[in-house]
Amino acid sequence: MLNQGNIIHSEPYAPRDEYVGKLVGRDQELRLIAASWMGGQNCLPLSPMLVGDPGLGKNRLIYEIAKRCNKDLYIFQGHEDVTAEDLVCTVRFSDDPDRKIDYVLSPLATAMLKGGICFIDEIAKIRPRALALLSSTLDDRRYVDSTLLGRRIHAKPAFRFIAATNTTDFDSNPMPDFIGSRLRPVVNFGYPPTEEINLIIEESFPRLEKNSKSLLDTFWSEWTKYNESRAPAPRDAIYLFMLASSFADFDNNDDSIPVHVTADHLKEAFCEINSRDAKWLDD
Ligand SMILES: Nc1ncnc2c1ncn2[C@@H]1O[C@H](COP(=O)(O)OP(=O)(O)O)[C@@H](O)[C@H]1O
Ligand SMILES: [Mg+2]
Repeated sequence: MLNQGNIIHSEPYAPRDEYVGKLVGRDQELRLIAASWMGGQNCLPLSPMLVGDPGLGKNRLIYEIAKRCNKDLYIFQGHEDVTAEDLVCTVRFSDDPDRKIDYVLSPLATAMLKGGICFIDEIAKIRPRALALLSSTLDDRRYVDSTLLGRRIHAKPAFRFIAATNTTDFDSNPMPDFIGSRLRPVVNFGYPPTEEINLIIEESFPRLEKNSKSLLDTFWSEWTKYNESRAPAPRDAIYLFMLASSFADFDNNDDSIPVHVTADHLKEAFCEINSRDAKWLDD
């Protein structure tokens, strides 16, 4: 069967610098993951699982670690329809006239073969019968069996694994013990303190320059107006400042003059992003 098809690898992901600002904080989480991956004599590298609300920086931290380890990062996006075989290999009709089909190795299988990092995002959305296949990857066997390929794939020693899930899925679809017990340690992501949110904004939006202090004051007063119940995640803050910056650019009729983002742009961004909540403010 194998000689009728090409074997194609998944592509690694490297984020573009212009979209990913400098990492702020998260030293403890970074230390815990790096230590889990040390491995060594008589010691398997562990496979941590990050748990936290959306937008808190789980992906961001994994990009940082991959970069610092100088390793390729292969991301598998978990969802409800993932099958066990999808986790290893899928088939498609080949563009090559001499071949009938291509076997496409999943991000997991590719990372194992190449000694890269496999990151399964939203792992709690994947059904237990598909996840069962991961058991052999995450313990001392460090291999995975593919029915389609009729082959066992052994992980290179440099292979590392990490997974992430948002808190709601983690609480509502508890993972089967045989997987949960192998995904250790659990790294809990909390909401960053005010100073870190401020730094993330300053690092991500250098154009704010001298205005940043007063715009951040506006940001915090608007945030409490719209969202009394919870702190902002970095993604909330970044998206609000992105929209405010885009309003500023849109209003600028002369591209040769640098345009300032103002408190009004930021207030407008809050109003639009929270437009459903804003209605009750007017009542
Ligand atoms: N500690 C941080 N330092 C710098 N930027 C961050 C940090 N945490 C999150 N971000 C930024 O916030 C946004 C959301 O982060 P992301 O990693 O996608 O969150 P999650 O994976 O938890 O949903 C991204 O733009 C990311 O670069
Ligand atoms: Mg994420």
